[in-house]
Amino acid sequence: MEYSVEHISSAVETAIKSLSFPTTAPRLFEPVRYTLESGGKRLRPVLLLAVYAALSRKDIDDAMKQALGIEIFHNFTLLHDDVMDNADIRRGRPTVHRRWNQNAAILSGDAMLTYASMLMGCCPADKLAAVITCFNDTAMGVYEGQQLDMEFERRNDVTVGEYLEMIKLKTSVLLAGACSIGAIMADAPDDIRSKLYEYGLALGIAFQLQDDWLDTYGDPAIFGKEIGGDIVNRKKTWLLITALNESDGDLADILREDLSDHELVAQVRRVYDRLNLRERCSALAEEYSQKAIKALESVEMDADARNFFTELAKQASTRAH
Ligand code: IPE
Ligand code: IPE
Ligand code: MG
Ligand code: MG
Ligand code: MG
Repeated sequence: MEYSVEHISSAVETAIKSLSFPTTAPRLFEPVRYTLESGGKRLRPVLLLAVYAALSRKDIDDAMKQALGIEIFHNFTLLHDDVMDNADIRRGRPTVHRRWNQNAAILSGDAMLTYASMLMGCCPADKLAAVITCFNDTAMGVYEGQQLDMEFERRNDVTVGEYLEMIKLKTSVLLAGACSIGAIMADAPDDIRSKLYEYGLALGIAFQLQDDWLDTYGDPAIFGKEIGGDIVNRKKTWLLITALNESDGDLADILREDLSDHELVAQVRRVYDRLNLRERCSALAEEYSQKAIKALESVEMDADARNFFTELAKQASTRAH
């Protein structure tokens, strides 16, 4: 087995291209294809398949349906997330609700969720209950996280603890769920599965801290999303929460002013810079990457596999897209 993101993600890419969708209402699936074929890092299926291969030493094809299921579920959350966040650009292209309309994002998203469940359920009977339970628990966690994310937009007293819990739900549980499903498919014992779950949780925190960092400091041409949307939406990121806590009311005053989006982002960034938050946020993300690596210390695996999971954890907090 070749442990590289490129190798596993290209197998996922090929499998995505060969998917077929129901044909009665073909326009339902136009946004689905548009989304699935617009790239994306394929992190969740890559994780699921790498865990499966590391623990079972079998060919990744045996868990490909579950890997596709997790990727399609993730893409479904993006369609709805872009409506909720009023986002125009994803993966360098117009979001589905901009390219088509809001109804298309809702209904094609629904179809993706069901399609994802159908793929998840295509597994040996002795693993079916565990896979579906894990998938459903994961999905519910994501919705809870998304709800908190929206509620926090209206609050200025969100704590770092509340933020970490929110991103654990909206982002980490899906990465951890991908690891867990890979472990179930590999027939791994519960203690190994829970170590991999822990890895996924810490990886997810590092990944979302970096996503929030990129939303302010990224290069839109590489990141594929617009910069500054989190600030405009008053998203309670670690950056915004820490600046509210440490700027003696300056940031709260700026958020109350009636500024253009451009001016708002520029002023908030000046507060972040004054407090050195760019570097501090990166350091925090890096800490979670290290936590992820530590979670796997006691799990036996080939050197190649360990190296893969270590590199993936490091990339989560240093990536540019
Ligand atoms: C975007 O996920 C949503 C977050 C959890 C930040 P990715 O950054 O994995 O998106 P794609 O699939 O690579 O486009
Ligand atoms: C990601 O949060 C969470 C989910 C999509 C479930 P974001 O709202 O930060 O993700 P992006 O930045 O739009 O990809
Ligand atoms: Mg968003
Ligand atoms: Mg969002
Ligand atoms: Mg984001």
